[in-house]
Amino acid sequence: MGFWLEGRPLMIAHRGLSAHAPENTLVAFRMALERGADGIELDLQPSADGVPMVIHDATLERTTDGRGAVRERTAREIQQYDAGGWFHPDFAGERVPTLYEVFEAFGTRLRYNLELKVLGVDDQRIVAPVIEAIRAFGLSEQVLISSFFLPALNWVKAIAPEIPCALIIPQPKPNQQALSWWTFPLPFEAFHPHDSVVKAEHVAHVRQQGKRVGVWTVNDPARKAELTAWGVDVILTDRV
Ligand code: G3P
Ligand code: MG
Repeated sequence: MGFWLEGRPLMIAHRGLSAHAPENTLVAFRMALERGADGIELDLQPSADGVPMVIHDATLERTTDGRGAVRERTAREIQQYDAGGWFHPDFAGERVPTLYEVFEAFGTRLRYNLELKVLGVDDQRIVAPVIEAIRAFGLSEQVLISSFFLPALNWVKAIAPEIPCALIIPQPKPNQQALSWWTFPLPFEAFHPHDSVVKAEHVAHVRQQGKRVGVWTVNDPARKAELTAWGVDVILTDRV
């Protein structure tokens, strides 16, 4: 199968169907599947006891009713908190899932873009359990691992060279010049640039080098059509 398609971009629901459901929860992933997404993007951080938890922020406050750092709470502690009520009362009772629970719920019915959120070298401990889960569920062909932190992709390749990896290119800060990201001799399969730094000639250049391009986060249908015409491989979107 392989992660990418030829001929059209994969539509990957960013943090699940995050425009309509609390990000990075099982309900957001289920809604993405029901709306016809090809896959989901989710963010991973290690709990204190080394479990890959599906949560975007390093702290619990924004997306749960808990407080404090994800890395200072066990998986069990993190899962006591409500991860849906902040979005809408209808979603109260959702929990922060583990990666294992996501794979258990959706198996081979989705593709998965797993983003490793890395705060320091200590986070390398998340890589082995992530790879173990991918292999345990037989998902090596439908997973792409990405990170803003290039060494994290080397950690992955050191133990799982078969898993494709994407380097995420950030949005430039105000008054910061955009990097010529597309010229970087990437030792991985794909670039995932922020939408604001993507032009047709960049996509063409990267594709000529035999690499893939995934763009985040694109919600405007006209822009999706434009990127599709340019030949991008992945569109990350909050709404499918
Ligand atoms: O992987 C693309 C995108 O998810 C990176 O930004 O902050 O939404 O995780 P963020
Ligand atoms: Mg992300």
